[in-house]
Amino acid sequence: MARKFFIGGNWKCNGTTEEVKKIVNVLNESQVPPSDVVEVVVSPPFVFLPLVKGLLRPDFHVAAQNCWVKKGGAFTGEVSAEMLVNLGIPWVILGHSERRLILNESNEFVGDKVAYALAQGLKVIACVGETLEQREAGSTMDVVAAQTKAIAERVSNWSDVVLAYEPVWAIGTGKVATPAQAQEVHFELRKWLHANTSPEIAATTRIIYGGSVNGANCKELAAQPDVDGFLVGGASLKPEFIDIIKSAE
Ligand code: G3P
Repeated sequence: MARKFFIGGNWKCNGTTEEVKKIVNVLNESQVPPSDVVEVVVSPPFVFLPLVKGLLRPDFHVAAQNCWVKKGGAFTGEVSAEMLVNLGIPWVILGHSERRLILNESNEFVGDKVAYALAQGLKVIACVGETLEQREAGSTMDVVAAQTKAIAERVSNWSDVVLAYEPVWAIGTGKVATPAQAQEVHFELRKWLHANTSPEIAATTRIIYGGSVNGANCKELAAQPDVDGFLVGGASLKPEFIDIIKSAE
């Protein structure tokens, strides 16, 4: 089953208006494969979402980096899924390890967020991944299966979900997973989906890799049969992000 390659750019908590405009300019002027070959979604901080959405080329799309778990109201500092829909923001990243670990977002809380965001009509990049200690303890698949289970127990329609495997020990460290390491976990995640959701969901759900992806390592990772794209952090702020998009070819 052919799955359209998916490249996400997670800008995290970075940028000024001028810097954001420069990045969008580079993206708008780049020659990349057509949108029937690769889906490109960039995720600026909340404060720049309308600006980026307004300036970005029409074949690229934007994502928020998070949203609240229920309808808005007395939740100071939060941004609701309804607000993103109102702004015409189609995607949201949920369950990033930086939120799971720093803000103690539990598997169940992330699962509830994914379900609520989908119910409001958003498409979701749902992140899972183990820490170095968990990998060294041999519990990688137990951890990512539990994270995925908490989503699968709340979500039946996976057509608007992209699953991002982001080993915590590879995020921001320069220690990218080897193609074999990435393929192994992606294969096991697809097997888990096959057994616990449906063969159709397993075959069609994009499973993308994140963690120190750059212009030099993306091709070999992209060649893995169960790697359907990337969620890129640091390199998405640089011109080499274009090379990563081209790894879809
Ligand atoms: O969400 C993507 C991010 O966690 C990966 O970061 O800088 O290792 O590419 P980076």
